[in-house]
Amino acid sequence: MEKSIYLLPGDGIGQEIMTEAVKILDWVRREGLLSMNLTSGLIGGTAYDLTGTPLPEETVTAAKAADAVLLGAVGGVKWESLDYAVRPERGLLGIRKALDLYCNLRPAQVFPQLANASTLKPEVVAGIDIMVVRELSSGIYFGQPRGVETLPDGRQKGLNSLVYYTDEIQRVARRAFEIARKRQSRVCSVDKANVLECTELWRNTVIALSGDYPDVALSHMYVDNAAMQLIRNPRQFDVILTTNMFGDILSDEASMLTGSIGMLPSASLGEESALYEPIHGSAPDIAGMGVANPLAMILSVAMMFRYTLDQPALADRIERAVNLVLDAGLRTADIWEPGMQKVGTASMGDAVVAALSA
Ligand code: IPM
Ligand code: MG
Repeated sequence: MEKSIYLLPGDGIGQEIMTEAVKILDWVRREGLLSMNLTSGLIGGTAYDLTGTPLPEETVTAAKAADAVLLGAVGGVKWESLDYAVRPERGLLGIRKALDLYCNLRPAQVFPQLANASTLKPEVVAGIDIMVVRELSSGIYFGQPRGVETLPDGRQKGLNSLVYYTDEIQRVARRAFEIARKRQSRVCSVDKANVLECTELWRNTVIALSGDYPDVALSHMYVDNAAMQLIRNPRQFDVILTTNMFGDILSDEASMLTGSIGMLPSASLGEESALYEPIHGSAPDIAGMGVANPLAMILSVAMMFRYTLDQPALADRIERAVNLVLDAGLRTADIWEPGMQKVGTASMGDAVVAALSA
């Protein structure tokens, strides 16, 4: 049956890297490996410019109807002074909420070819394989009440609320345990239970649930310690399960173990919908220059084949093609080192497509 893929390039380099992702999809279609119907829509600042909102209703409707959504990136200096409610980022948060994408998978793996690209010593990062499972549709990003108000005495008060319900913790924790079973069967749940009651509930809920997964080793870490341990000894981690905001921070940190944020894909999963995007942003400083690294976007396509379209062989093939291209010494500027061949966005995409048939 034909699969429907909805493309949301978004802003900045989102447009350029999406073009490269589509080359991969076109190759899959040309080879007759899977029949897919591609449509695209608007999100972020680009959507705001054209429609007055960063998340048009049609985008939500089309995303809900699709088998999978591929997203580039949102945001840019141009929109930074806009009212908070219509900033590009609201489009991203809005679609996560609208599709109830509560489980965000952010793998951090070191490509051996790029071991020198990390600022950490190669012997510290060699062989790391971490899966950050970030809760994505609740927590402090969405909790009410929120906002900034001016008090009678003239002071302003800013407020955000960290809220989790047990069922919200359970559903993302279940995913983490299930993913761990397919890996090294270890889950480290990260919280701040020594200070925040809400994350004490998080910890207790995860502990209660762990009875259903006796084969998975569960440990707990406070987020400050986890931030330190990620740098000190990252190989100790298999699956890291954590809240929305801690996951935002720790996944950026984990990406730097691998050398470049330009290499890391992600999957955002709900019960009915799935969205795939690189974890990096829209990089306005290099947008339109044709130098962005498309590999995180391309690896997000691989994740889509693995987690939503049930095509593990295609996922393996794309990941293998990326490895071949790195083996051949091709590097975009963000991962370039002396002796390697510097290429732009389009050449990198073309090289991956060529390697798919190799
Ligand atoms: C991410 C990003 C987003 C987030 C921003 C752009 C809203 O940093 O996907 O990690 O904070 O979730
Ligand atoms: Mg982030």
